[in-house]
Amino acid sequence: MHGVSKSFGGVHALRDAHLEVRRGEVHALLGQNGAGKSTLVNILSGVYVDYGGEVSIDGRPVSFRSPAEAQAAGVATIHQELDLVPEMTVAENLFLGREPRTRWGTCDRRRMARDARGLLAAAGVDLQPGRRISSLRVGEQQLVEIAKALSLDARILIMDEPTSALADAEVRRLFDVVRDLKRRGVSVIYISHRLEELAEIADRATVMRDGTVVGTVDVPTTPAGTLIQLMVGQRMEQLFPSTGTEPGEPLLVVDRLTVTPRRPEQGRREPQDVSLVVRAGEVVGLAGLMGSGRTELLETLFGTGPAGTRTGTVTLDGQPLEPAGPRDAIARGVALVTEDRKVSGLALGQSVRSNMTIAALGRVSRGGVVRAGEERRRVARMAEHLRLKAASQSVAVGTLSGGNQQKVIFGRQLMTEPRLLLLDEPTRGVDVGAKAEIYRLLAELAERGIGVLMASSELPELLGTCHRIVVLHEGRVVADLDSRTTTQEEVLAAATTSNDTTREQA
Ligand SMILES: Nc1ncnc2c1ncn2[C@@H]1O[C@H](COP(=O)(O)OP(=O)(O)OP(=O)(O)O)[C@@H](O)[C@H]1O
Ligand SMILES: [Mg+2]
Repeated sequence: MHGVSKSFGGVHALRDAHLEVRRGEVHALLGQNGAGKSTLVNILSGVYVDYGGEVSIDGRPVSFRSPAEAQAAGVATIHQELDLVPEMTVAENLFLGREPRTRWGTCDRRRMARDARGLLAAAGVDLQPGRRISSLRVGEQQLVEIAKALSLDARILIMDEPTSALADAEVRRLFDVVRDLKRRGVSVIYISHRLEELAEIADRATVMRDGTVVGTVDVPTTPAGTLIQLMVGQRMEQLFPSTGTEPGEPLLVVDRLTVTPRRPEQGRREPQDVSLVVRAGEVVGLAGLMGSGRTELLETLFGTGPAGTRTGTVTLDGQPLEPAGPRDAIARGVALVTEDRKVSGLALGQSVRSNMTIAALGRVSRGGVVRAGEERRRVARMAEHLRLKAASQSVAVGTLSGGNQQKVIFGRQLMTEPRLLLLDEPTRGVDVGAKAEIYRLLAELAERGIGVLMASSELPELLGTCHRIVVLHEGRVVADLDSRTTTQEEVLAAATTSNDTTREQA
């Protein structure tokens, strides 16, 4: 790709960008949120058709007029925002638009199920082809998307943050698959904010900043610090803040909480006999494999879990906490940042400002009337806090880059000024600079006496920001570790404990 430019209205998303990818290499594309990574690969994959510059494959100029054309030319893409059809099954999604046919021209469902099983197995994905997409967790949906892209038999495979919702074991499997593709001569363009993954998987990396390319480097010989410096444009101080505060009195106390849903949903793991404490001013991590029940526990605390019976008790500041729903939870001082930005209800057509204040209108109104000046001031402060990259408060959220949309969700929850902040993969898809900001923000919140319960699949993040780490396995607490003395290995070992040892420990 040479001299590529693209603008959206007045926004220059790309200026004279260039990218050269060799056959059979894994080429990382790096840059902060809004740097232009997705836009660049979307041009290669036929999503955007009007742009400046040249794209060629195998020395031949190409200009795709649709994603289907790009696919036919051997360019497959795993998009950052998953585009599966939620009402359809895994198999139907895998073969959408290319369903196997019977002799009579109808869809051959039996063959489709069989082939789907084969595709899933080849991608190392353990899922039933008949499952409905809407019943899958975000990470599982991502695996389906990956299996689908792999099945296209591409020469160039674009992966836009494929691991952001995957747990460690799934990342390992994905890397095995990528190495295999490489051996077969497939070129992989790999976008990720998880820098620690790069050394393991990437050959070269192109770094983007503000819509331009600042350089291409060999990954094995380039220290992570240099990459970060290229991305940010300056040296970055430490990633994790020093957590100096000592936690205070117990704030959230969960005692032997078990949830039994009225209508059990496949793939969900509700809390089983969970006991844990979050003190005022304490950041507690929630570790566990995908499917260990971290999200379900957070949802229960926030009042958005399925209807059913619960035993055990939950108290916040000594008062029983059993919110009837999000509104009730927020009124009681509990906020939740969910892992999936699409379902967490960003109104993509609405402004950054209204998306940020929607849950906290009471804080910026008097007598039921929104005080516009106060609203603008608070949003400005929050945007600065989060280093939000947006042209103004008035632009539609849908025009922000993926990571910046995540920051708006974060800002919305913080605007409610919670006493207990529940976070589900809060830095998913967020660049290193913004990650450091979010960690600093968490430390600051803790200093002000707020309790934080944060689920994360990134162990360095848990170890670097939390006072304690609670490990879940199949809905149960299997370990409660002091992060000053524990190690990644210990957390992982606890998370992968088999049932038998769980019972022994209990
Ligand atoms: N449809 C659009 N309309 C208006 N502006 C857009 C649109 N898509 C992208 N942009 C802008 O183009 C710039 C580059 O966005 P892009 O999505 O390529 O960033 P990115 O590097 O992929 O970031 P992230 O790491 O957050 O995914 C951003 O400033 C973004 O706001
Ligand atoms: Mg992107």
